[in-house]
Amino acid sequence: MRSFRSAFGEAEPAYFIRAPGRINLIGEHTDYNGFPVMPFAISRAIYAAVAPRDDKLVKLQNLQGEEYGPREFCIEKSIPPHPQGDWANYFKASVQGLLDRFQGQQSHLRDLRGFSCLVDGNIPPAAGLSSSSALVIAGALAFCAVNDIEMPRPYLATLLAEAEQYVGTRGGGMDQAICLMAKETHVLKIDFFPLRISPAPFPRDHCILAAHSTVPAAKTENQMEAYNQRVLECTLGTALLARLTRNGNAERLADLVDEAAGRGPSELSHELADLLSGQDTVTVRQIARLWNLEVSDFRKWLQSKTAIDAIPAPSQKLKVLPRCRHVFSEARRVQQALNSLRAGDIEALGRLMNQSHRSCAQDYEISCKELDELVALMREAGAAGARLTGAGFGGFAIGLVRKSAVSAVRESLNMDFYQVRNGSADDYVFEFTPQEGASVTELDRP
Ligand code: GLA
Repeated sequence: MRSFRSAFGEAEPAYFIRAPGRINLIGEHTDYNGFPVMPFAISRAIYAAVAPRDDKLVKLQNLQGEEYGPREFCIEKSIPPHPQGDWANYFKASVQGLLDRFQGQQSHLRDLRGFSCLVDGNIPPAAGLSSSSALVIAGALAFCAVNDIEMPRPYLATLLAEAEQYVGTRGGGMDQAICLMAKETHVLKIDFFPLRISPAPFPRDHCILAAHSTVPAAKTENQMEAYNQRVLECTLGTALLARLTRNGNAERLADLVDEAAGRGPSELSHELADLLSGQDTVTVRQIARLWNLEVSDFRKWLQSKTAIDAIPAPSQKLKVLPRCRHVFSEARRVQQALNSLRAGDIEALGRLMNQSHRSCAQDYEISCKELDELVALMREAGAAGARLTGAGFGGFAIGLVRKSAVSAVRESLNMDFYQVRNGSADDYVFEFTPQEGASVTELDRP
């Protein structure tokens, strides 16, 4: 409270918000393809103390260090972003998303008020534990609280998944959904379009040990490009299969599933492989030809569909087949993981995690040697299964570890990974079990 007063003068906060980070147990890069994921919320979170203002300003201060300097912006119809990567863009994203929701209701826009917000948190940033979406959620909950806006959480999660694209990543809806809807002691299988959740109890005698690869996984810069490239490759896979199955309305890979017609994820994967004669790469020109389209028209369509600026040149080779193979096989693993959890079959769950990592590394190419090494070490030291988590390209590896074996696995990581890099597991390895989703507490004000 003292910090709040020194940041914003006399004001006292009226709300305290907690927006947790997440671990994704399995189901990587499936969400934007319309297939499910299986995350849980962790004990590390973004915290925000919030006071309503009488004007339309949003004033932000952050206790987490110099790179997160004070920011301020106005609630207006179209909020201009700060330079890419700026922390306040995540707040702008949520406020803009909520404003767009009220578009056309001028009277409502007039009545909206701003807020002062002091932010703190302990989610390791740029590490694939969704610190950025936690900021988006904190911003949205603050805006809703000071303006008395109530929305069902699945609705808010869907709206914010879209809103976060303001920062430039063409992400899916996992992070916002789990942050808002997580359940203590459970993982959630989350389906999208529309959002649906199926909880499954996390085994009580196990935990997730998360080990930082020491390689940053920022949602900005190169990683954002690499992420968006995967989105694009999957969109091309959708276009190819849509042509093959005469399903011109398919928006994403999951729309092509037609179990009644015997077309599940595995069959689709095979059909795509046949169509591409098993070739890993294909060019935009080849796909345009299949659709009988001019390559320039096809590139325009692709740009409008993905909202990605850097559409590949007509002859650039794209790894459409392996990307789709990962997505289809991962979709199957998520369902199998749900069954294993419900049956209490830890070994089967561990095997699925291992297979997921292999597929992420080989077919989706989102791993790196540090993540591969951590995953191998965790398995050797007794984890039932291990894999990278989140978008990849760095960040955290996770192991499913029996609680009684935690110190042995931790020690092995310390000796064989961190000490050789002059570090210590104490700074990089965390133990997590599923926690409750985001909360807003109204504070008693004097
Ligand atoms: C990021 C995105 C999510 C999801 C994961 C990969 O965290 O924000 O929507 O796509 O990557 O599974």
